[in-house]
Amino acid sequence: MNYPYANRMNDFGRSPIREILKLATQPGVISLAAGSPNPASYPVEEIKEILNRMMDTEPVRMLQYGISEGFPPLQETLRHRMQTRYHSCSEADGILITSGAQQGIEAFAKTFLNEGDGVICEDPSFISALNAIRSYNGGRLIGIPVDQDGMRMDLLEEALQREKNVKFIYTIPTFQNPTGVTLSLERRKKMLELAKRYQVMILEDSPYFELRYSGEELPTIKSLDRDGIVTFVGSLSKILAPGIRVGFLIGPREIIRKVTKCKQISDVHTTTLMQAVCDVYLRDYDVDAHIRQICDRYRESRDVMLDALAGMDPRVRYTRPEGGLFLWVTLPEGCDAEKLIDATLAKGKVVMVSGGAFTVEPGGFSNCFRLNFSMPTHEQIRRGVAVIRECVDEMLNA
Ligand SMILES: Cc1ncc(COP(=O)(O)O)c(C=O)c1O
Repeated sequence: MNYPYANRMNDFGRSPIREILKLATQPGVISLAAGSPNPASYPVEEIKEILNRMMDTEPVRMLQYGISEGFPPLQETLRHRMQTRYHSCSEADGILITSGAQQGIEAFAKTFLNEGDGVICEDPSFISALNAIRSYNGGRLIGIPVDQDGMRMDLLEEALQREKNVKFIYTIPTFQNPTGVTLSLERRKKMLELAKRYQVMILEDSPYFELRYSGEELPTIKSLDRDGIVTFVGSLSKILAPGIRVGFLIGPREIIRKVTKCKQISDVHTTTLMQAVCDVYLRDYDVDAHIRQICDRYRESRDVMLDALAGMDPRVRYTRPEGGLFLWVTLPEGCDAEKLIDATLAKGKVVMVSGGAFTVEPGGFSNCFRLNFSMPTHEQIRRGVAVIRECVDEMLNA
């Protein structure tokens, strides 16, 4: 039969990341392609302990349907943490627990976007969020280039002047995926000012913001907002474990009420059991010490990667992230990152993700690639970057 797929399916091609990740699981492959935290950081014993206790003491509450807004104790715990630590949840805000940050982004897009509405985002950006947005607005994404201080505000202003019906700015301001760059404080204030002036909302997606290895902590854009412009998307994927699928949205109560309806249609509620595990972990265990440990581990890995990259041909540029999981390499104009990846795979079974996987418009960033430093061992990072260096040299001297 000729299956009559919906038009929105045309916007989702084969995911180059998924293809690469399939390769990455083959024996002997050095993967610098991952998008996930290191499993050694998952609090396995603690989660086991909490789960056992829950099944002994309140199995019915854990296994019964819950409310779409989220498990109330976790809502309170997250509200308190985000309010006291990060000033990012005021009395005027509501909080919705989602099945990962991804669902929060998708439900927000579904709540606000009609076909043809514009959404501004960094270019390159997190492809699953772009795809979620595309599925509701017919693909009208307006990409703004980033530099070492994040999204370019001069180009954002031009876009806001030029484009009609822009509903929101989707931004990953802290340790951006895929570039690793962070929006400076000055630009955070500017983005907020522009959003207010042009009356567009901001969706601040920040799953990495607690993973800082150097530099000064910056306020979230949400914490600077006094006008109900920003909705913050958070996640426990990178600080606890991605498989638990717990994320959250914090935004004006009215928005959260509407987004909750969209979430309800998708999956009724996020699993109570995992929400309860997160709640007990955040309340009864030392999550700050846990995050410090993760940061110590990733800081070392980032530094090993930066040291290894220092030997690269000077025409190759790369970002120096202060946190998160990734850095971004730019080859001289005209070089093809896909070809480089074919070469690194053939020479030393090294894989990374090419820039084209993160682009707003097809064909962008073909001379760039993303490197992950959270998953590989130090030895794999050194070996992997050495192979990349050899292949880059061959490519540049061909
Ligand atoms: C920028 C960004 N936002 C959202 C997500 C999704 O996170 P979650 O696992 O909470 O759905 C990711 C995951 O890699 C990400 O990089």
